[in-house]
Amino acid sequence: MLLRTLALIAAVFLPAMALGADRECEQSPSKIIKVCVFAKDDGAFYEVSRLGKPVLAPAALGLSFAGEPAARITSISTAKRSTSDTRWEQPWGEQRVIRDNHTELTVSLAGDTPLNKTFDVTFRVFDDGLGFRYAYTAIPSGQTVAVTDERTEFKPVGVYDAWWYEGFGSQRDEYLYTKTDARRITVAETPLTLKRSDGLHLSFHEAALVDYPSMLLAGDGAGGLKAKLMPWPDGVLARKTGPFTTPWRTVLIGETAGALADSRIELSLNEPSEIADTAWIKPGKYIGVWWEMHLKRSTWGSGPKHGANTANVERYMDFAAKYGFDGVLVEGWNKGWDGDWMADGDRFSFTQPYPDFDIRAITDYGKARGVKLIGHHETAGAVPNYDVQLEDAMKLYESVGVSAVKTGYVKRSGDIIDQDGGHQWFAGQYMVRHDLSVVETAARHHIAINTHEPVKDTGLRRTWPNWISREGARGQEFNAWGNPTNPPEHTVILPFTRMLAGPMDFTPGIFDIVHGANDLTRRGQSTLAVQLALYVVLYSPIQMAADVPENYEKRPDAFQFIRDVPTDWEISRTLQGEIGDYIVVARQQRGGQDWFLGALTDETARKLTQQLAFLTPGKRYEAQIYRDGPGADFRTNPTALEIIKKVVTSKDSLDFDMAPGGGAAVRFKAL
Ligand code: NOJ
Repeated sequence: MLLRTLALIAAVFLPAMALGADRECEQSPSKIIKVCVFAKDDGAFYEVSRLGKPVLAPAALGLSFAGEPAARITSISTAKRSTSDTRWEQPWGEQRVIRDNHTELTVSLAGDTPLNKTFDVTFRVFDDGLGFRYAYTAIPSGQTVAVTDERTEFKPVGVYDAWWYEGFGSQRDEYLYTKTDARRITVAETPLTLKRSDGLHLSFHEAALVDYPSMLLAGDGAGGLKAKLMPWPDGVLARKTGPFTTPWRTVLIGETAGALADSRIELSLNEPSEIADTAWIKPGKYIGVWWEMHLKRSTWGSGPKHGANTANVERYMDFAAKYGFDGVLVEGWNKGWDGDWMADGDRFSFTQPYPDFDIRAITDYGKARGVKLIGHHETAGAVPNYDVQLEDAMKLYESVGVSAVKTGYVKRSGDIIDQDGGHQWFAGQYMVRHDLSVVETAARHHIAINTHEPVKDTGLRRTWPNWISREGARGQEFNAWGNPTNPPEHTVILPFTRMLAGPMDFTPGIFDIVHGANDLTRRGQSTLAVQLALYVVLYSPIQMAADVPENYEKRPDAFQFIRDVPTDWEISRTLQGEIGDYIVVARQQRGGQDWFLGALTDETARKLTQQLAFLTPGKRYEAQIYRDGPGADFRTNPTALEIIKKVVTSKDSLDFDMAPGGGAAVRFKAL
C-alpha cells in the first residue's frame, strides 16, 4: 500500500490544563506503557509502568545552570497532548519502512530560579518504550548559559542484571562488557541494557545527540541511575546560547532481548533527513589495505613495507572487481602519519599523498573496474589540525571520485587537544560538534562518513544519511592485537547493547582465524561459520571483508556467502536471543526476495531450532547453510565448516547445532 495512504496523523491538542495541576499521565497507543509526571517536594519527577506494573519508580527531571542554585520545582503549569502514527522510509537501513506510532505529552514546569523559571519536558510514549527531552525555550536569544548538572534519573523497579563497562576509560568505548547486578554499576556508557529477575528487559540511551555532551549513567549503589554528562575541560557540561532543547533520553522496554534489538524508537525520535537527494549514498561491501597492517605484514608509515603503495592498492582493486566489492579502503596514504597512531597528529596532511601512492592513477584504475577508493582520515585526535584542512580534504577526495571516508580519532579518551590547548573528552560537546561538522562538510561533497573512535550513535543517520557507519566498540581488530582478543560471548552481547545504538563497522570475515598465534587470547576466538554469520547479526550498511585477499581465495566455498550477502535490508527480525548466550537474526534483502540468517552462540555448544515462519508463505527457498563442521571448536578447530543445501518453506524449521564459539549463516534463495 502507498506510504501516503498508510500515514495517519491525528494531532489532538487539548486546551491548556488548569494552572497548578500536579500530575499528568499519558499512555502508549496500545496502552502498554504509561508515563506520569508530577511535581513534589520541590522537585519534578516522572514514573513509568508497563501493563499496569511499575517499571521505573519516580525519578528526577531537570537541569541546573551556573550562577544560580539548583531550582526548586513548584508546579506543572500546562499540558499539551498529541498522537501520531506515521510511516517513514530509510534510504538504506536494517528496515526500509519504519512505523512511528506514539503519543506525546508536554508538561511545562515552573521553578524558582531565573533560568528554570519555566521549561518544558516532552514525552513520546511508544508501545516498546519512551523518549523524553527538555526544552528551555524561555532563555533569551543571545544569552549563553552553562549547564552544570543534568538531574535526570532512571530508577528501575526490581532486581536487575546489567551488561556494561565503566565509562570514562582511556580506551573510549572499546571494552569488553561484564555482567553484574545492576546495583554494582559505577558509571556506565549507554546503551545500557538491563534484565529484570522476571525477564523484563530495559535499555537506556539517548536519541538525536546534537550540540550537547553525551550522556553516561552513574549508579547510586541501590539500582538507581543518574545522567552524567561528559564535561568541557573547565567542568561545565554544556554551553548553550538562546533557547534550546536537549537530546532525547530513551528507555526501551521489552519482554525479550530481541524486542530491544528490533525497536526503532531511537531512529523515529531523530529529525528527518537534511539531505534531500540521498541517491548518491550507497550501502555496499568493501575490502582494504588494512588487516595486513594489523598483522604487521606491511606498515601504515612510509618505507620499504609501506602498504599504501600504488601497485598493492591496484592488486586489491583487481580482487574487488573480480569478486564484486564496491570499494577498497586504504590507510596510511597521507604524509605526516608515519606509523604511530597517536603521535604527531598536528603534522598529518589530509591532502598530500606519499609519493608511492598515486591517488589519481589509483582512482582511475578503480573507475575502469567499477571499484571506488575508500578514503581514510586518521587524525590521532589532533582535531584542530583536521578542522582547518577538512574542506580541502573532502574536496580532494570528491575530485577523484571517492564517495566514502573512514575517519579516526586514536587518542586516550580525555586527551583530545582543542585549539586552546584544552583536554577534551572524546564525546563531550566539543567532539559532538566536531563529528557532526565532519558529516555536514562531507555531505556537501557527496561523501559518506564511517567514524572510528566516534561519539556513540544516537540515530543521527536519519537526519544525516551520509553518516553511514561507525565503530564505537571492540571490533575485529582486537582479534589481531590480543591482550585479550574478543571472547565468543562478545558478539552475543553486542547485538543487545552497542548495536541498539545503530550500525557498527565491526569488520567481519577473518578466515585465517589463528593467523599464526598459538595463544587463544592473541587470535580470533570464533569458528569460521561465525565469521559469516556476523554479516547478518551485526548490522552495518557497509560491511568489510576484512581478511587479506589470498585467504579468501583459499576458501572459495565459505567466501561465496560473503559474496552473496547484501548489506541493505527490507525487514530485520531478531528471532531468538539471550544476552551473552546466543542470538538468531533474519533479514530480508532490500529489492530482492532472498532472506539471510545469522546464528551465534557463546563458548557453549548449543542446539537451537528455528521455525522459518518469517519466509513468505507458499514460496520455496533453497537454504544454503554454512554451519560448524564436525569437530568444530573455537579453541581447537575453528575452521571446520560444512555447507549443505536443502529446499524449505515457511512451514519448516532448521536445527542449528553450534560448536563452542560457533554459529551458522544461511542464505534462503528464493526459487
Ligand atoms: C583504529 C581503527 O579502528 C582501525 O580500523 C584503524 O586501522 C586504526 N585506528 C588506524 O587508523
